[in-house]
Amino acid sequence: MDNHRSLGRSPIAISPIGLGCWQFSEGRGFAGRFWPALPQETANQIVAASLDAGINWFDTAEVYGGGRSEAALAKALTAAGKKNGDVVVATKWWPMWRTAGNIKATIRARQSFLASFGIDLYQIHQPFALASTAAQMHAMADLVEDQRIRTVGVSNFSTAKMRAAHQVLDTRGIHLVSNQVRYSLLDRRIEKNGVLRTAQELGITIIAYSPLAQGILSGKYHRDPNMIRSRPGPRKWMTAFRRRGLDRSRALVAALEEIARAHDATPSQVALNWLANYHGDTVVVIPGATSVAQAEENAGAMSFLLSDAEMNRLDELSRPFC
Ligand SMILES: NC(=O)c1ccc[n+]([C@@H]2O[C@H](COP(=O)([O-])OP(=O)(O)OC[C@H]3O[C@@H](n4cnc5c(N)ncnc54)[C@H](OP(=O)(O)O)[C@@H]3O)[C@@H](O)[C@H]2O)c1
Repeated sequence: MDNHRSLGRSPIAISPIGLGCWQFSEGRGFAGRFWPALPQETANQIVAASLDAGINWFDTAEVYGGGRSEAALAKALTAAGKKNGDVVVATKWWPMWRTAGNIKATIRARQSFLASFGIDLYQIHQPFALASTAAQMHAMADLVEDQRIRTVGVSNFSTAKMRAAHQVLDTRGIHLVSNQVRYSLLDRRIEKNGVLRTAQELGITIIAYSPLAQGILSGKYHRDPNMIRSRPGPRKWMTAFRRRGLDRSRALVAALEEIARAHDATPSQVALNWLANYHGDTVVVIPGATSVAQAEENAGAMSFLLSDAEMNRLDELSRPFC
């Protein structure tokens, strides 16, 4: 079944589920310390399993290990026999303490880490550069015109900033294709703050990050709350992973488990399926994985259909997280 969707109004077709590659940071840098340092062989297997299950795009970033995730992704794609143009690669520019000039100054480094793979989507990672949105968008438009990147996206942009970015690019004849934001059944703020509605209006794809609420929606931390203690990184100190937080999400996770049983699926798959389908084609999701089994499971999330009643039940149970 060809269930690919357009990335914004571009001709790029992507699977509803992509692979998030933050987990390939090799434990380096402030962002990398969030996850265990995965060997290249595990990254190869995660990417191969994702490709086998129909995933055709990958999200990485400069800040994920200072290029290590980009390099690990390129190596894994090459090991899987892929060449430039066979898959869609998205990466991001890190804006902290930087002006818009840095976007062009660092593009060669991005290209070098990604080796033979081109940048299909280049995103501004956060809205806090030392530059106006307009200056950043003009720098990105220059990169499109120079054929260094194919499309432009943003990440963590508010409604107003997303609209501004869209308008500036429009003056250059370029469409803003995506806004990558935190979105899951445990964080539905984009449905209230105008981001989702504006994306739908402007034909901008929402790329949902942390779609499993960083593992909570799998239900494994409800089943064994002590498991988080053995995981690296700061999740063990986050409220959502502590007993009170787990109690808040328990009813929702129980419903995910029940619905999963009816489809011979898993709670994670049901959570990802809901996210990618509840708002039509607007939302695509990029779960990350620390094991091959997780990657296989997540990529399999589109192999069944949730009924309207199941969709609505999850909607109601997750309303407290809107
Ligand atoms: N633009 C941004 O600012 C931004 C921010 C965050 C993330 N992202 C992107 O979004 C991607 C995904 O977000 P995320 O990594 O924060 O959260 P996520 O996808 O919700 O959670 C990923 C983590 O959940 C656990 N997990 C994944 N699949 C599982 C399964 N089937 N069963 C049980 N546990 C599972 C794994 O951790 P354990 O095995 O350790 O539990 C995995 O590392 C990232 O890789 C990155 O590309 C972007």
